[in-house]
Amino acid sequence: MSDPKSKRKVKNKNSSVRSEGARGGFFARIFKKRETPPVYEPPLVPKPYGYQPLEGYFAINKDTLLIADQSRKNYAENFRDMFKRALEHELFIHYNKPGYNNILFEENPSIDPEGYVIECYPDRMKLSAGGAPGFFYAMQSLSQFLRLDTLLSKDVIYCPCMVISDFPKYRYRGFMIDVSRHFFDKTEIKRYIELMSALKFNVFHWHLSDDQGFRFEISNEKYKFINITSSERRGDCVGRPGSQFPYNDKVYKGYYTKDDVKEVVEFAKKRFVTVIPEIDLPGHTQALIAAYPWLGCDESDENGNLKPRPRVGVRVEYGVSEEVLCAGKESTYKFIEDILDEVFEVFDGPYIHIGGDEVLKNHWETCPYCRQKAAEIGGIGLQSYFLNRVAEYCKSNGKRVIGYNDGLNGGADPEIISQFWVEGKEHNESLKSQIRNGGRKFILSSERAFYCDYPYAVTPLKKTYFYKLPADFQSADIKKNMLGIEAPLWTEYVLSRDKADLNLFPRMIAVAEQCWTRQTTDEASIKRKRKRRKYNEARYAGFLNRVKAYEPILDLYRVNYADLKIADPTDKKYLKAERAKWAGSDQYSELKMNKNLAEQRKVIKRNGVLAGKIEENQNREIALDATSYTPIASIKIDLPFDKDMV
Ligand code: ACM
Ligand code: ZN
Repeated sequence: MSDPKSKRKVKNKNSSVRSEGARGGFFARIFKKRETPPVYEPPLVPKPYGYQPLEGYFAINKDTLLIADQSRKNYAENFRDMFKRALEHELFIHYNKPGYNNILFEENPSIDPEGYVIECYPDRMKLSAGGAPGFFYAMQSLSQFLRLDTLLSKDVIYCPCMVISDFPKYRYRGFMIDVSRHFFDKTEIKRYIELMSALKFNVFHWHLSDDQGFRFEISNEKYKFINITSSERRGDCVGRPGSQFPYNDKVYKGYYTKDDVKEVVEFAKKRFVTVIPEIDLPGHTQALIAAYPWLGCDESDENGNLKPRPRVGVRVEYGVSEEVLCAGKESTYKFIEDILDEVFEVFDGPYIHIGGDEVLKNHWETCPYCRQKAAEIGGIGLQSYFLNRVAEYCKSNGKRVIGYNDGLNGGADPEIISQFWVEGKEHNESLKSQIRNGGRKFILSSERAFYCDYPYAVTPLKKTYFYKLPADFQSADIKKNMLGIEAPLWTEYVLSRDKADLNLFPRMIAVAEQCWTRQTTDEASIKRKRKRRKYNEARYAGFLNRVKAYEPILDLYRVNYADLKIADPTDKKYLKAERAKWAGSDQYSELKMNKNLAEQRKVIKRNGVLAGKIEENQNREIALDATSYTPIASIKIDLPFDKDMV
């Protein structure tokens, strides 16, 4: 498709489709099913805002110079390193401007700081960006466009002439990984940051604490049992509650040292990804209460004497726990502040997430400390009081605070950013009024579309791709408070990297397009329903093509992505059966099916078709064919993830 000859063919075909009606008779015109003209899209995910193919190629060869002044030298160096992945020789960087066979770097303040323009003409290329992140995204796009990682090493790379101009729809483009239910070590975390930054995500939300484990090193000797007790549980839930043996009795443990965190934060920074730590409070804290029971509520015995509640262990089962931090004791707040001090020591980004979701109040209602505190503070309610106090502490440390929307409904500080995950009439009304009356900002994380823990049979790719804010959130005054989108991966039933990969890919590509890609046509301006449907069908078909074209790159990263047969299911019977399995006792049906499909794909690639293509490709000067194949069997593999990546 990237061959200019085929582009010309596409154009001609379009014009003949258009003129056909005029040539046919009356009935022919009425009844002829008009084909939707094929739209040429560059093989890029997320799709860029503007793309204009031009005639010809620019040959990047050993004489091509990278032109950058001293202050832009590091951008040129990054691109030089990028080309090194597929070129046999290293490009030189120069500081003057010869007229041809060069790639010029230019910072342009009129471009969005994350935006960029790539102009490729037969004799030169120009890369302009609004700032360092823009150059980084230009690099991601160009590397993908040229399929650099899947090319055989050669002495020339041909770049089809074109102009790409691109900038993001939202400033906040996030993904979350829950490492409490199941732990992913620092190398795996870095791998996801790498994969997501290639899709232009710029936020990694790290869910470090929950009932099932606390996963961040605490050095304060006073709390030494956090990493001994709270970071380890006896037993792992390996099936659904309905299944016969859902738990094993193995010790499941792990936490990140501060050095691990620093390494991840630095790694992320290089990819323009901000890391947001989450310490989920005051619910989802059973792991902490297991180590320090005084963090929980007390109760009175029959004589009215206070006594601690029965001791609990780190939770093994899922669901919402009744064990929550006591909101009445001052010692709880001192504890949290001490923990947060250590969090702030190594997470130097602007945000902190304090959770606030799913807080059961049973213990608060009977705890004498909580009852007394509730009486003191009056109408605001303990939940809001608690979150506001913690938020105040975070703000005094220069942080912006994020919390889940279900925790913010009763008078929480309007400066806390709401992560809008649970929808429904009451939650929606409440958030809208918080936005209108208090100016609250929010991040969209709809459970229905962006929760990556669900199987594709429940949340198919199409649903994620087409998700729209609820109708009552469509007005400009609400939308302007939306910072962006985040997709969480809760890991109750994600025991392995393979399962995480499956649930995240290709779903995160759809999320990336929701976050990044501004549509050039406003769908609402297409008045006729049928036309709108056609427009969306074509859009989705283009998206699937681009996903397919991206699969070879995911192969390189050894991503166990879901086959489109699984990710984009259509058969109603199949869907019903798969949903029943999920609701019943089989969490791994899609994983098993996908293994078979991946095997089939490998066989097809090994058997001739691809081998022939590889040879053809070696003899051919045109190195690009994004849509049909990638020479996966003979690429020069230099995977960063097989070693330690930094
Ligand atoms: C959540 O899903 N409990 C935020
Ligand atoms: Zn209490």
